[in-house]
Amino acid sequence: MAMDGYMSGFGNELATEAVKGALPEGQNSPQRVPYGLYAEQLSGTAFTAPRRENRRSWLYRLRPSSSHAPFRPHPEGLLKSGPFTEAPVTPNRLRWSPLPRPTQPTDFIEGLVTFAGNGAPAHGTGVAVHQYLANRSMTDTVFFNADGELLLVPQSGRLRLVTEMGVLGLAPGEVGVVPRGVRFRAELPDGEATGYICENYGALFRLPELGPIGSNGLANPRDFLTPVAAFEDVDRPTRVIQKFQGRLWVAELDHSPLDVVAWHGNLAPYKYDLARFNTIGTVSYDHPDPSIFTVLTSPSESPGVANCDFVIFPPRWMVAENTFRPPWFHRNIMSEFMGLVHGAYDAKAEGFLPGGASLHNCMSGHGPDRETYERAVEARLAPHKIADTLAFMFESRWVFAPTPFAMETPALQRDYDACWSNFQKARLPGTDAEKPR
Ligand SMILES: [Fe+2]
Repeated sequence: MAMDGYMSGFGNELATEAVKGALPEGQNSPQRVPYGLYAEQLSGTAFTAPRRENRRSWLYRLRPSSSHAPFRPHPEGLLKSGPFTEAPVTPNRLRWSPLPRPTQPTDFIEGLVTFAGNGAPAHGTGVAVHQYLANRSMTDTVFFNADGELLLVPQSGRLRLVTEMGVLGLAPGEVGVVPRGVRFRAELPDGEATGYICENYGALFRLPELGPIGSNGLANPRDFLTPVAAFEDVDRPTRVIQKFQGRLWVAELDHSPLDVVAWHGNLAPYKYDLARFNTIGTVSYDHPDPSIFTVLTSPSESPGVANCDFVIFPPRWMVAENTFRPPWFHRNIMSEFMGLVHGAYDAKAEGFLPGGASLHNCMSGHGPDRETYERAVEARLAPHKIADTLAFMFESRWVFAPTPFAMETPALQRDYDACWSNFQKARLPGTDAEKPR
């Protein structure tokens, strides 16, 4: 089903052509492709990956993407990549205020800043967490990432990603995924855009298993949208920047490579409106582990232990009886990088701002701040809606190593630990004063 230039479904076999008759019928690579287009397979998984894992698409383009001069090194700015060994990995809890907007003209690629990451592209495991802060569209420049797929979480301003496989429009509240290798140009319809990126070096994101939840719920497959084929026939010098093994490289073409007239397959960019998430929580007491809010997961080789889970904390009703309702105190073997798209997060009364971020690595004690705790234990429990909020977490089995930038930026809140100071000691019966109940 097509919706305003999109086709719906997650991981579906799709077929789309911008010019009638451009897509070969009944085979992938006929002797002569319609209109003399060039057939090219784009493989997102190994040829021999099991069928349920296998992702590839066939692209039919004006020119083969093999036609290019050698790539040359290109400045990386604040973009970093695994292995993340430049700064010692601190066990401390970290939190950042929103970064200042750029004052110089800055496009999507120039405006990439890496906060933290784990694993390495060379090993096909781990993720990197970046922010983008841009104030101009990319012009006569396209980008692709050979190191992993990009999960984009817009925070302010819309993005118009003109990709090889169609146009993906993203607004805050939506997320988009661009597969490894897919070329795109990021345009800024609002003149400015900021957001978060999870660069996934590991297994492709997919929908989590639902177990006893059943056959529906969480992110429903039909709400994922993939653009229909769209191409540009532009004979103008165009720079192609790629990220390869942690470095940027550039080559010039005499044309735009966004020239795919038709494609079919199950590897393509897609987007999802987080407002469509079917949020599930307790209707009795306590609240489930936050894994109940998983939108997408990149598995590792250990069942149930994710290379990365993308988890959201969306608007939802709180109805639990006799329950401490904010996120509880906890220590987790998994490491948690969080961001906030808008509103307030229910574990932090202040200090965690839209556009900001926090990092709680393996076994670091964290949870509600003191103010949130005291409010929660005193609250008269009635059904209550947390309305204006959209926080998210990139949760990984691998510890996140912060970059030198992340440890040195003035945006790092050096007093973060104070939000957990001065908790009143619990007092047992028979000691000097019982804790008031
Ligand atoms: Fe946590």
